[in-house]
Amino acid sequence: MEPIIVLHGGAGNIRLEDREAYLKGLIKARDIAYDRLESNQSAQQAVLAAVVNMENNKHAFNAGKGGAINRDGVVESDAAIMLGNGSCGAVAAIKNTLNPILIAQKVMAETETILLVAAGAEALVDKPIENSELLTPRTLKALERWKKTNETGSNTVGAVALDKDGNFAAATSTGGRLGKMPGRVGDTPIIGAGTYATTEMAISCTGEGEAFITAVTAKELSIRLEFQKPKEAMTKVLNDVKRFNGEGGIICLYQKQIIVAFNTAQMAIAWKKPNANYAKVSSKAQIMIID
Ligand code: GLY
Repeated sequence: MEPIIVLHGGAGNIRLEDREAYLKGLIKARDIAYDRLESNQSAQQAVLAAVVNMENNKHAFNAGKGGAINRDGVVESDAAIMLGNGSCGAVAAIKNTLNPILIAQKVMAETETILLVAAGAEALVDKPIENSELLTPRTLKALERWKKTNETGSNTVGAVALDKDGNFAAATSTGGRLGKMPGRVGDTPIIGAGTYATTEMAISCTGEGEAFITAVTAKELSIRLEFQKPKEAMTKVLNDVKRFNGEGGIICLYQKQIIVAFNTAQMAIAWKKPNANYAKVSSKAQIMIID
């Protein structure tokens, strides 16, 4: 099976001065993850590598270090991972780690539950860190701007992969909405809303989480892809998100097809498969289908 990795670095409002860092970060994370697939590692290992790399990136993205700050000045993160065999794990409102996706993975691998929040999730972190280690000049500035103008930023990072053995995986991580209420949880850690995988596909969403939760977007897309063309299915689910007053973007690997769509001002997108690759902070709302 030919391996494929697809990544997003968030949909929303990606400021002009940040776009180069987003692009560089996307390409780096994409190539690290693709190398894993090339060297026979699993889709799970590839999506974790991609998301960890973006969480660690302090120059770009809304996840891990540089995650959006809530109105109390704290980075509270959500993350989820799901494999095509149905295994999944998620954390929400976790404050003491650079890599929430690794704690979501730990929930999947080491506990009998699926979603752990706040103190319960934080107890799984081996080396807890302080909030100050997650703040960056870029995100502190963004919070100040939000207080004055309500300007939002981008939402979330995510990756979906197909490995050489034909297995799918999806992983998503986010600091959530800039200026959110403490304790607010978005769609990212809600399996079937922001993150989903089956034996035939993997999906990661980015955007206004409340609308994606209400529309149960990822699961809805997975059902629609069984009987609709990708373009029709994507159009319908993003229209549903809009109906619930939201905007955003979705990456999906369906069998061997790459499907990406967004209806926000920008979306950071990258993918790689044998002999072809792509990376762009796109400002042209679109549906991209690559066979
Ligand atoms: N989509 C990420 C969030 O709303 O938190």
